[in-house]
Amino acid sequence: KWGLETEWLGQTIIHKSSAASTQQLIHQAAADGAKHGTVAILDEQTAGRGRMNREWHSAGNKGMWLSILLRPKILPQEAPQLTLLTATVLADVLKDYTGVEPMIKWPNDLLINKKKTAGILTEMQAEQDQIQYIVVGIGLNINHTSDDIPGMLASKATSLYLETGKHWSIQELIQQFLQKFEAAFDAYLAHGFSDVKKKWESYGFKIGEKIKIKNLKEEKKAIFHGIAEDGALLVLHDNGKEEKIYSGEIQWFE
Ligand code: BTN
Repeated sequence: KWGLETEWLGQTIIHKSSAASTQQLIHQAAADGAKHGTVAILDEQTAGRGRMNREWHSAGNKGMWLSILLRPKILPQEAPQLTLLTATVLADVLKDYTGVEPMIKWPNDLLINKKKTAGILTEMQAEQDQIQYIVVGIGLNINHTSDDIPGMLASKATSLYLETGKHWSIQELIQQFLQKFEAAFDAYLAHGFSDVKKKWESYGFKIGEKIKIKNLKEEKKAIFHGIAEDGALLVLHDNGKEEKIYSGEIQWFE
């Protein structure tokens, strides 16, 4: 049905029309011993989840709601690299397939015209410094019209339809995404993170841009200084000191 040309990704696909969340389906499958590369796809999620315990609107047949089970031999502290890898794959798909100009907002939001079109949620199960498995969940707003995006979100969120004026095939986007993901993941395991980092930086904020960093405790202003080898955000403060940031959100400082 999905017409996938892949070797290991999506050899098993759990697909349902409606359930709580693809993250939950994959956590369950992983507990039952599912293989590396198992994919869950829902047409509609009734309890889609975002980062920081936010809810993720996942209306029926409007977007790509998908999670991937990975069992990579990497260190737990390298797991954030997979989030950045996923963001670059999604940006490539959007650019090559729909012609939009996506931007990645660290760590994992995909923006078109400064509005959020997709988000990535990476969850890791580790024991004694060993990764048991990782679930990478991707939500991409595809065919939402302005009626589908709640008013309070309209200034911040968008869909491919709203940005291009065209409806897109969810199935084809899923196929494109999974094929590119497999190739990018294999290249990452073979050659490491530095090519991913370069690609990420080509879609990301420009070095030297002023940004605001927000986390649960505080909000600070700094200068964007790139991405570290481990996937952390690098910022430069007024006093010339560089800092590595591992969690939170960044915004333009206007
Ligand atoms: C974010 O930007 O906060 C991350 C959003 C991630 C949403 C996707 S949709 C598929 C998968 N299932 C979920 O419940 N969440 C992720």
